[in-house]
Amino acid sequence: MLCAPRRRLGAPVAPAAALAAALLSSLARCALLESGDPAALALSPYFGTKTRYEDVNPGLLPDPEAPRRDPELLAGPCTPVQLVAIIRHGTRYPTAKQIRKLRQLHGLLQARRPGGGEPTGGRDTGAALAHRPLWYADWMDGQLVEKGRQDMRQLAQRLAALFPGLFRREDFGRLQLLTSSKHRCVDSGAAFLQGLWQHHHPGLPPPDVADMECGPPRINDKLMRFFDHCKKFLTDVEKNATALYHVEAFKTGPEMQDIIKKVAATLEVPANDLNADLIQVAFFTCSFDLAIKGIQSPWCDVFDVNDAKVLEYLNDLKQYWKRGYGYAINSQSSCILFEYIFQHLDKAIEQKQRSQPVSSPVILQFGHAETLLPLLSLMGYFKDREPLTAFNYKQQMHRKFRSGHIVPYASNLIFLLYHCKNAKTPEEEFQVQMLLNEKVLPFAHSQKNVSSYEDLKNHYEDTLTGCRANHDCDSPKANSTFDEL
Ligand SMILES: *[C@@H]1O[C@H](CO)[C@@H](O)[C@H](O)[C@H]1NC(C)=O
Ligand SMILES: *[C@@H]1O[C@H](CO)[C@@H](O)[C@H](O)[C@H]1NC(C)=O
Ligand SMILES: *[C@@H]1O[C@H](CO)[C@@H](O)[C@H](O)[C@H]1NC(C)=O
Repeated sequence: MLCAPRRRLGAPVAPAAALAAALLSSLARCALLESGDPAALALSPYFGTKTRYEDVNPGLLPDPEAPRRDPELLAGPCTPVQLVAIIRHGTRYPTAKQIRKLRQLHGLLQARRPGGGEPTGGRDTGAALAHRPLWYADWMDGQLVEKGRQDMRQLAQRLAALFPGLFRREDFGRLQLLTSSKHRCVDSGAAFLQGLWQHHHPGLPPPDVADMECGPPRINDKLMRFFDHCKKFLTDVEKNATALYHVEAFKTGPEMQDIIKKVAATLEVPANDLNADLIQVAFFTCSFDLAIKGIQSPWCDVFDVNDAKVLEYLNDLKQYWKRGYGYAINSQSSCILFEYIFQHLDKAIEQKQRSQPVSSPVILQFGHAETLLPLLSLMGYFKDREPLTAFNYKQQMHRKFRSGHIVPYASNLIFLLYHCKNAKTPEEEFQVQMLLNEKVLPFAHSQKNVSSYEDLKNHYEDTLTGCRANHDCDSPKANSTFDEL
C-alpha cells in the first residue's frame, strides 16, 4: 500500500518535476523498506523537530491507516463528548533560509581543491556530494510535501475510526477548524478534512475543501501563532540578540568544534570555511531527504550517531530557550490558546448538563512545533530539573526535553472530554484524558492517565486567571481577541 504512487489530492498545480520526484520517492521508499537497512535509520532518532511521525509511533509502519487504541483510553460508562486537538503540520520542505545555507555549503564543496592523501574512510564523500545536484528549490520554502498531506489524511482516518461517536458523518458540518496562516498549516487542515471525508466515503474522490459542509479551516494567528502577537515575547526573546546565548555558546563550544573539524576532514574543505550553521544544514538535509523522499541521503554519511546526538542537542537548546522553559514568557504567551481550549470544554460541559447536544464535538487546530512546545511547557510537561545550557550537554543526555520525541511532524496534542454515566459523585461525571501523538499522556499534576475535569481546572486555575488578566503579553487588543472566533 505504501508503495502505490498516490494520487495528489487538492494539491496546488505541481511542476512535472515535482510529480516525477513524488513517484521516484515512493519507489525509493519501497526500496528502503524492502532492503530493511537499519543503517538508514540510525540517525533518525536525533532529528529533533524534523523527525518523522512514524519514528515516534513505529507501530504505524505496517498499516498507517489502522486505528491503534491506547489500552489506557477510558471506556465503559464513560463516552467521549468532545475532542480538542492541536496539530502540528505534516512533513514539510526546508525553508528558503535553509535552502540558501545548503547551497552555500554545496558551493564550498564544488569549489574545494582536495589535497593529496587518502580521503577519510577510503571514499570521497565530498566529491560525491559536490557532484550530486541539489534538488531543493526556492519555491519549496517550508511548504507541506505530499508525505505531509498523507501524514494528515492518515491521522484523520485513525482518529475518526477511534472515536466514531465524535466524528459522525452527519456531524461533518459541525467540525470546527482553525489554522495558522502558514501555507503548510492551511494545507494540513485541508488534507486532514480530505482524510475524514475518505473515512466516510471510501473510494470516492473528496470534494474541494471549500465545498465541504464545514468549510475550509479558518485562519487565526492570534491563537495558533500567539508568539507573533505577544509583545513581551518579541522584545525579551525573539528580537533580543542575547536571549539565545546558550545556543550561540554551544555552536562555538568543544562538542561542535570537534564535529566541525571532523566534517572538514571528511569533506576535505578548510575547517575555517565551515561553521555550526552549515554543519546543521547538512544534518537537516539528511533528515529532509529521509522524511520527504524516503531515502538515505549521502548527506547522512557525513555523521555518526555521536555527532547526531550533539546536533540534536543544538536543536533542542534552541527550542528550550525560545519555546520551552528557558524563559517564562515563552510558555506564558500560549495561555491564550490554553484558555481557548478550556472555554470549549466548559461550554461542552454546560451543554451536557442541560441535556443539550454538544455544539462542537470536534475542534481541530493546526499550527507549529512552536505552538505545541510552549503549550506543553505551560502545562508543566517535559521539564528537566536543570536547565539545558551550552555547558551541560553530557549531564542532559537523558533529558526529558527532546523535541524529536515530543513534536515530530504531524505531532498532536488532544484534550478528550468524557461524560461518565453512573458517576458516584458529580465530580466524577466529567473526566479528561490527554493524548500526545495518539498515546495517553499522564497528567503533569498527578501522573495519572485520567483526571476529573474539576481537578484539572483547579490545578490550572492560576494559569487561567493569570491569562485573563493578560499582563504578560501586553497585547493591546487582548480583550477583543475572542470576538473574532
Ligand atoms: C535579553 O535577554 C537577556 C538574557 O535573558 C536579558 O538579560 C535582557 O534583559 C534581555 N533584553 C531585553 C531588551 O529584553
Ligand atoms: C498510565 O498508562 C501507562 C501506559 O500508557 C501505564 O504504564 C501506567 O501504569 C498508567 N498509570 C496509571 C497511574 O494508571
Ligand atoms: C481590557 O480589560 C481590562 C481589564 O479586564 C480593562 O481594564 C480594559 O479597559 C479593557 N480594554 C478594552 C479596550 O476593553
